[in-house]
Amino acid sequence: MLKANQDYLKLPGSYLFSTVAKKQREYQEANPDRKVIRLSIGDVTQPIAPAIIKALHEAVDEMGTEEGFHGYAPDLGYEFLRNAVAENDYKARGCEVSPDEVFISDGAKGDCGNIQEIFDKDCRIAVCDPVYPVYVDTNVMAGRTGVYDEKSGVWSDVIYMPCTAENGFTPELPGQKPDIIYLCFPNNPTGASITKESLQKWVDYANENGAVIIYDAAYEAYISEAGLPHSIYECEGARNCAIEIHSFSKNAGFTGLRLGYTVIPRELKAGDTALHALWARRHGTKYNGAPYIVQKAGLAVYSDEGKAQLKEQIAYYMKNASDIREGLKAMGYEVYGGVNAPYIWLKTPGNLSSWDFFDRLLENAGVVGTPGSGFGPSGEHYFRLTAFGSRENTAEALKRIKEM
Ligand code: MLT
Repeated sequence: MLKANQDYLKLPGSYLFSTVAKKQREYQEANPDRKVIRLSIGDVTQPIAPAIIKALHEAVDEMGTEEGFHGYAPDLGYEFLRNAVAENDYKARGCEVSPDEVFISDGAKGDCGNIQEIFDKDCRIAVCDPVYPVYVDTNVMAGRTGVYDEKSGVWSDVIYMPCTAENGFTPELPGQKPDIIYLCFPNNPTGASITKESLQKWVDYANENGAVIIYDAAYEAYISEAGLPHSIYECEGARNCAIEIHSFSKNAGFTGLRLGYTVIPRELKAGDTALHALWARRHGTKYNGAPYIVQKAGLAVYSDEGKAQLKEQIAYYMKNASDIREGLKAMGYEVYGGVNAPYIWLKTPGNLSSWDFFDRLLENAGVVGTPGSGFGPSGEHYFRLTAFGSRENTAEALKRIKEM
């Protein structure tokens, strides 16, 4: 009998950001004259930097010539980009990562979601709570999470590591033993960062317990404080226990271009199996590579011109972050994040539920954010705003929030 994948049917509701977008659409249809300001999904708003646009144009022109035409990209990505990643994101930071350990992809979201495929179905995952929903949802789809309890919002077979104001939104080592640990720092959604010393504890824990850390470093370019780790490979022993995932979306505005990469060190093993070989096999079988023109655009991110322009772009968003943070504080809100990350995590006033505050903000201020409870049970009574809006919209949103 033909049957749909039963694990997909276990997923509660729709994907968080789809639900938020649907509510925004419905509100806009009912209030066509109201300008709604979107500070919900972490989608960038500033135009692609000129150095990257130039590289795109050149690559497009190349594709129209006999000698410059490129068909399928190499499985693991073009060498020019893998070399640039290894050189700039790792060697320059004193980390040991070779170009052939870098797997280029069409974005970090896909990698975050797909990486679980190379692990056994019986592996136990541990996630921060609140957490970027992709880590949990994709494990639900793979049948790895057990039974969902609607009331508490938790899965029976997932180890949750609460991140609260009390622990500075950095998780404690888990009481139960996980096989796969998802960590994201600077954090989405709380905007919290982790010190190298704390991250080292996780690396030591994973090595002692035979676990793998999947480290999502999508927001590392937003670190403003000195001494914080930009990569897990800054920690000793991380090559034996960590996979790192990077995005070009947040540091270089590629949300619409799509580019990312995953690093799997050669020595990283699950039992006797080298995970590098498994991920390479998966790439080879299921993937034909990110487009040549986009990988060329990615290379421009590492040019001197590109670096200077992107530094300015990040500063632009981080000014928004500081305006939101300070603006909300002055209004009496309890606010976190926004210093080393483009997300501001605020406590809802009067202990309102996250979704009640979402409705209040939308109806009274015409501002869309993301309810904290959508990221996990410990996100209840919290709310996330992004710094990725334009300066004008961010200022207008703050003005409206103040007046509501
Ligand atoms: C978010 O808003 O959490 C992110 O933009 C989602 C993503 O990067 O996929």
